[in-house]
Order: sequence, then structure tokens, then C-alpha cells
Amino acid sequence: MTDRYAVIGNPVAHSKSPLIHAAFARETGQMLSYGRLLAPLDGFADEVARFAATGGQGLNVTVPFKLEAFALAHECTERARRAGAVNTLKRVGEHWYADNTDGAGLVHDLIENLGVTLGGKHIVVLGAGGAARGILQPILDAHPAAITVSNRTMARAEALAREFSAYGPIRAVAPADLGNVASEAHHVADVVINATSYGMLDRPLGAAPCPVSIFAPTTFAYDLVYALADEPTPFLELARRGGVARSADGLGMLIEQAAESFQLWRGVRPGTAHVFPLLRKLAA
Ligand code: ATR
Repeated sequence: MTDRYAVIGNPVAHSKSPLIHAAFARETGQMLSYGRLLAPLDGFADEVARFAATGGQGLNVTVPFKLEAFALAHECTERARRAGAVNTLKRVGEHWYADNTDGAGLVHDLIENLGVTLGGKHIVVLGAGGAARGILQPILDAHPAAITVSNRTMARAEALAREFSAYGPIRAVAPADLGNVASEAHHVADVVINATSYGMLDRPLGAAPCPVSIFAPTTFAYDLVYALADEPTPFLELARRGGVARSADGLGMLIEQAAESFQLWRGVRPGTAHVFPLLRKLAA
């Protein structure tokens, strides 16, 4: 019987994961099927149990179930525990083993695909929700000089900085003060990462998550939001106005977090270069 995998979420129809994992399976010669599971908002655990009962081997978990997946897992990786959220479930015997590959996917995209150095650099993370929480530990593991976390609701940024300060140099700064911080020579923002929902398609745009003055010409701007079309995301548009020359949207993170999940399930890390043009072509 072919091993079965799926992405579970609500909504889930837009998910690119089936296409990505089908490409990985072809490339690595693995026999598997990968579908979409739409779970009712109040029926995540039931849907997961049904999937397991019918022989399902692994799940990717997307909005809004990442916290519930963490609660449901019997065992999880350290990075999933720190994130408090899970995007990958693997069936091990009668149990679910859980991981969060989002942050590792981001760091892999930045370092390996984009050639961005994180070690010894000043990294600014905008946002203090689930997305920000998921990437802090993997960024700290790359030994930056400092992380500045900033959020519209300052108390959430302060809470995150407190929680993660045991693992590396991290502090909270209000969005309005980010421009001042960046103008101090030793605090120039080497990498600015948008982990807010600013620019997500289904939401009103609202105010920008940082002042344009945060950006220097040498800053690398990275948006967790991705655009399939050639146009820059609203955050990357802001960064360009700030004089940024190098930037990327979150398509690479999407592909690399999937590769990490695939590796957890199948024991082999697929190549990813051939998947980028496949996804960009969707929008053409
Ligand atoms: P996610 O799991 O995607 O991070 P979330 O937990 O709802 O979702 O968090 C959304 C993040 O985007 C929060 O940091 C939110 O700021 P608040 O904590 O102040 O709500 C941030 N956010 C959403 N829209 C924003 C906007 N227009 N400008 C700045 N920050 C925004």
C-alpha cells in the first residue's frame, strides 16, 4: 500500500504543499500520496484520528491548527517545544511525533539559497505571533550578534524576548523606535524579517509594521509572506523604498520547510531548486 500524507488546515484548498511534495517524491523516487484534508474548526483532533485509523503516515499542519497539533502530539522536537506550535506530524507506532520545520526552512533558505550570513549579525524580527515564535530559536542557533523583536502590541514582543533570552541575545523594541535603533552604527539592521501578517492577501493592509528608516542599503529584507506573481509583497515594496537592494519573499521558506518535513518522514532530504520555477509558474 502506498504511504499516505496530507496537509490539514482550514482553509486548505489554496495549499501548495501537495504540489511541492509530489515534486519531492518524483525527484527522490519515493512512492507516496499527498492530499489535502479540510478539518472543521472544532474537529481537528477527530480528523487527525480518522486519518491515522485509515493508515495515514504523516501530516503537515497549517492555519489555524498549529497550536492544537502541538497539544495533540505525544512527543516533539526541542524546536517545536520552544515554538509551542507544530507544522509536521509523523506517525510512530500508535503515536504522533511532532516537529516545527518553519524556522529551519527559513534559516536554510537565507543561508543556503540566498547566501545571507546570520552569524554575528543584527537581525530584526517584526511580529510576535505564532510565525515569529516559530523562527526565533532556529535564528538564535545561527549565533547572531543580536535579535531585536518588535511588534505593534509591545507587550507580546516583550514576553517573547523574555522567554527566549535564556537562549541568546534578544530584546524588544517598539516599532516607532526602530528607526532610532538602526541609526546607531553598531545596530544597523543587517536582516529585517517580516513575521507579521502585514501584506497577507486575505487581510486589510493596515499600517506598516516598521518605519522605512529601519532599512539601510546593506540590509537584507525577508518577507515570510510570499507572492507567486512577480510583484513585490507590500513589505518588500516598503523595503525597496527604504533603499534595500537585496530581498526575498517567503516562497523559499515554504519550499524548504516542506523539504525538512519530507526528510523527517522519508529519511532523505530532497533537492529544492527544481520546485521554485514550478511554483512561480503557477502565477504566470
Ligand atoms: P501568526 O501565527 O501568523 O503570527 P498571529 O498570531 O495572529 O498570526 O500574529 C499576527 C502578527 O502580525 C502579530 O504580531 C500582529 O501584531 P499584534 O500582536 O499587535 O496583533 C501582527 N500584525 C498583523 N497585522 C499587522 C499590521 N498591519 N501591522 C503590523 N503588525 C501586524
